[in-house]
Amino acid sequence: MRNLVACMLLLGSALPAADLGGTWFMEQAGRSGSQARKTYYYFKVEGNSFTGQMVSYTDSRKVQNGKIDGNAITFETQGAFNDRPSQMRGEVNGDDLTISGVGGRGGRGGPGGGRGNFTPPVYKKISATMAFPADLLPNHKPLPPLKALPPNGLALTPPMGWNSWNKFAGRVDDKSVREMADAIASSGMRDAGYVYVNIDDTWEAGRDANGNILTNEKFPDMKALADYVHSKGLKIGIYSGPGRLTCASFTASYDHEEQDAKTWAAWGIDYLKYDWCAASGVYTKEEHVPAYQKMGLALRASGRPIVYSLCQYGWLDVGEWGASVGGNLWRTTGDISDRWDSMANIGFNQNGREKYAGPGHWNDPDMLEIGNGGMTDTEYRTHMSLWSMLAAPLLAGHDVRTMGDSIKEILLNREVIAIDQDKAGHQGFRIRQDGEQEVWKKPLAEGVAVALFNRGKDPAKMTVKWSEAGVTKANPKVRDLWAHKDIEAPGEYTVEVPSHGVVMLKVN
Ligand code: GLA
Repeated sequence: MRNLVACMLLLGSALPAADLGGTWFMEQAGRSGSQARKTYYYFKVEGNSFTGQMVSYTDSRKVQNGKIDGNAITFETQGAFNDRPSQMRGEVNGDDLTISGVGGRGGRGGPGGGRGNFTPPVYKKISATMAFPADLLPNHKPLPPLKALPPNGLALTPPMGWNSWNKFAGRVDDKSVREMADAIASSGMRDAGYVYVNIDDTWEAGRDANGNILTNEKFPDMKALADYVHSKGLKIGIYSGPGRLTCASFTASYDHEEQDAKTWAAWGIDYLKYDWCAASGVYTKEEHVPAYQKMGLALRASGRPIVYSLCQYGWLDVGEWGASVGGNLWRTTGDISDRWDSMANIGFNQNGREKYAGPGHWNDPDMLEIGNGGMTDTEYRTHMSLWSMLAAPLLAGHDVRTMGDSIKEILLNREVIAIDQDKAGHQGFRIRQDGEQEVWKKPLAEGVAVALFNRGKDPAKMTVKWSEAGVTKANPKVRDLWAHKDIEAPGEYTVEVPSHGVVMLKVN
């Protein structure tokens, strides 16, 4: 053992610091139809320190604070949109350099992403100088100058429908989308307002010789699929992004924006989710907003009304500019997952964004997880109530074909849906917080919605006075939207709210 350690130390100190200098390259096969990941690092060494640059088809990051210690290196990568740098480490063994994230994998779009057992990718040195291939570097024409686009008249209430990602991710295909459309129509979801059937990432193949986007084998005929979905009285949505690749490393719309918008219009697409992800590999921070406007303009020129959904996780105060680039909704956060903490942190953190929401332009705290099994029915009722108080898009993300009765009751609660879809289009906000209990209000075209949320581990008795919700009538009409009954509550209302639960009222 002692010999082995001595031998490793010897090997470690055998790396002359300058050997790290130059360009290193690695390629990892893409998973299930996605493109291979090619990543390049350039390191510029001075003594035992180094700086540099990382580029791939999906990202571009500065390398900073690099330190060499024998054959081990540590450094940070800083992307234009990340608040904090990612901490990285590496090891040189002969001709090989392995790189991995410290306590993680280097973040979204960074090298080495993936699930399951993690083997750090191996880089090989390809040049002693900076040698990034020309086709990896941005090559776009200047983006159109910013100008505020007028509203497109769509999404006058928050969009409702279904999206494939939360349940199916890369397993979505033509058959499952058709079956989902059938189930949305037959379950009553369509008639309750869930009309968009949205295909998320992983439908894309490459492009033909003329640059037209192609579908992969999971979607043999997108026009026929759109026709089928339309025949059910539903609308259909699709997914792309401003980068070369999507988040799951499929072909995206970089430098083909107008062409793709026309293709989608010809297929009969009604909704586009446009996801940034890999666009950090081709655009600077200054180009972020113009890149979203470019697709906004392309959709306007496509000849078909298409709802435009921005997905860039709330970066750069998207509420300030999302509508002006043509957006009908914009994500305000990272991805939701089917857990109470994830849903509650995202949902309750939306307070304060109400100034950006209104008919035609909505904050999007991500899709629903209701029915995916990771929360209790009580928690899913809170999810549904909170999203409706927020005037959030209601995009279900479960397998509609196998939906049980309790989930159906939650998603099809028309009294709660009516709060979300209220035509005044106000987003609700918190009016009081007592520790883990929160009281929220949403002004309606007539009256207000009031929600009593208990985020605590135990049931809690909660009281709301109508005066604090801005209701001036001493004895207003009060209706419990989950119990489906009117309540006598002059002046105020006291009720026990279950742990992680909600009591949602309409008061007028
Ligand atoms: C990102 C988005 C998700 C989903 C995936 C698809 O993570 O935020 O909603 O679209 O990409 O790859």
